[in-house]
Amino acid sequence: MKPKVYITYRIPEKPLDLLKERYELLINGSDNYLTKEELCLNLKGMDAIICTLMDPIDKDVIDSIDRAKIIANYAVGYNNIDFEYAAKKGIIVTNTPGVLTNATADLAWALLFSVARRIVDSDRFTRDGKFKKWEPTLLLGQEVTGKTLGIIGAGKIGSNFAKKASGFNMRILYYNRSRNIEFEKETNASYVDKATLLKESDFVSIHVPLTSETRHMIGINEFKMMKRTSIFINTSRGPVVDEKALVNALKEGYIWGAGLDVYENEPQIEPELFKLENVVLAPHIGSATAETREKMAEIAVKNVQAVLEGQKPLNCIN
Ligand code: GLV
Ligand code: GLV
Repeated sequence: MKPKVYITYRIPEKPLDLLKERYELLINGSDNYLTKEELCLNLKGMDAIICTLMDPIDKDVIDSIDRAKIIANYAVGYNNIDFEYAAKKGIIVTNTPGVLTNATADLAWALLFSVARRIVDSDRFTRDGKFKKWEPTLLLGQEVTGKTLGIIGAGKIGSNFAKKASGFNMRILYYNRSRNIEFEKETNASYVDKATLLKESDFVSIHVPLTSETRHMIGINEFKMMKRTSIFINTSRGPVVDEKALVNALKEGYIWGAGLDVYENEPQIEPELFKLENVVLAPHIGSATAETREKMAEIAVKNVQAVLEGQKPLNCIN
């Protein structure tokens, strides 16, 4: 009997060909993510699991796993998996680092420019037939070139995002749990404490994983420290930011604007955000390019293959 690989939601198909020869592939083909109960049921008897960031792989789900040696997360973030508990049960957990670094950093820049140059506002304005004449003060935004960029989180994505600033002649500040000399060499960024970064930056972009340490690391006090002309970008994980405080900051003018790809209670969004003009909202599309989503599938597939063949996976979280 072929070992069974379960995939909790459809992912790009081409990389799956590698698995089809040797393994039996079972895929949730519905348009819905599985409930916890369904996960517990469907993961039984499987030898390997590929899941997404929408699947809560908590202790109960892990306890229901009776055979699987690997849970391969189709994402770089893995806050959806109790990976320490999985380790106790001898289950390897992997993610997809590296391949989505460019795509996610690109999206952070796309949001930064959309907010700074009011692209979404402008599009609405034009479509609404309001473009009657060029005007000296029409839809004024914030200049990007020559400004100060503040990066919170000095991982691969933060570093890639910083390097992309080189054409815009920016001063770069970063804050991270610990100083990262490699990051400084690659990006020319200066290490500062969080308060300094918030006070001095014109743009603040977050690139940290969600952990107990980073949850709500940006709240009302942080927004109040920022410049009233500043722009806040989040492409990491929603709960890193107190979303109600962000609404408040945008309404009160503590900051000038925000570009968001992730939300505290995703896919729910603070209803007040929909009413604000100075925020651009994307539906968690950081890694959403055809190329990257396929590479993420390749990595998940390779990790599954390696573990089922008794080899080391490309990357292991636990
Ligand atoms: C996407 O958010 C990811 O973590 O891959
Ligand atoms: C993602 O790969 C990161 O480490 O930032």
